[in-house]
Amino acid sequence: MDYKDFGLVNTTQMFANALAHHYAVPAFNFYNMETLSAIINAARDTHSPVILAVSESALKYMGDDLLRGMIWGLNLKQNENVALHLDHGASFESCVHAIKLGFSSVMIDGSKMPFDANVELARTVTDFAHKYNVSVEAELGTLAGIEDENTHGDSSSYTNPNDVVNFVTATGIDSLAIAIGTSHGAYKRKSDDEELRFDILDEIAKQLPDFPLVLHGASTVPSHFVDTINKFGGKMSNARGIAPDQLRRAVQKNICKINVDSDLRLAFTAGVRKSLAQNPEIFNPREYLTAAKNNMYENCVNEIKNIMNSGK
Ligand code: G3H
Ligand code: 13P
Ligand code: ZN
Repeated sequence: MDYKDFGLVNTTQMFANALAHHYAVPAFNFYNMETLSAIINAARDTHSPVILAVSESALKYMGDDLLRGMIWGLNLKQNENVALHLDHGASFESCVHAIKLGFSSVMIDGSKMPFDANVELARTVTDFAHKYNVSVEAELGTLAGIEDENTHGDSSSYTNPNDVVNFVTATGIDSLAIAIGTSHGAYKRKSDDEELRFDILDEIAKQLPDFPLVLHGASTVPSHFVDTINKFGGKMSNARGIAPDQLRRAVQKNICKINVDSDLRLAFTAGVRKSLAQNPEIFNPREYLTAAKNNMYENCVNEIKNIMNSGK
């Protein structure tokens, strides 16, 4: 299936526009009808391009056919500038599978591999993907993944600016994800004064002027969602994200795709917890899922307007 038949676009023109006009295209992760509908409605209402991101585990959760049915059901037009992107593809086979399903963009994540193996894998994926006009993102440096405040995942390593030109040239990729201090999940920083490494970002942007850079692990972890979750039975103390002004600063320096998943998870969970706690008699899922959808929609609109600057 050709992604154009779904009304999807690849990221080439999206990123060229983002770089030229100093905004970032939001990449929001989805995994069911509620998340997808909140994201697409927010993008449509703000006239923003958007990248619909699907992780391997989210694809498994939805199933290939249901995912394609939902994308088909959006009735996208190419001038809406919507891409369907495989997030953190772990293998060549996984990227090929996504491309054959109709994805217009894939990430091959060899960031934990030695440099040469990462190059080799990204090159192989890019050679294949480009035959179908599908965009490819790869990553240099590694992000820490933090699931909760006690279990910190793998340790991070910042991207080495001296490697980026070699990596981009040798792989032929279309965008590069970099590690400058963000991390996945809702527990990103121990204190409010921890800053991103703008010195590294500046150096990378100097080495790769006009090349699209990507920031993973960029959720802001809005405190009102965390507070609501904690107020209505949740347990998420010390959750802390990236400060919005740090992200706005990064957008001015060639970051033209910003990945957000955790903020939607928080918005969803806050909506469900509050709705069930305040209305203990309800048992129609559409009631508490509406609260979840509304929270996610508001979060996406807010981030498009106040962080990405990608709306019209
Ligand atoms: O960066 C990772 C995303 O947040 C996806 O996570 O594999 O739990 O869907 P997931
Ligand atoms: P967050 O956990 O900060 O939302 O990061 C999401 C992400 O990077 C998806 O690839
Ligand atoms: Zn990520």
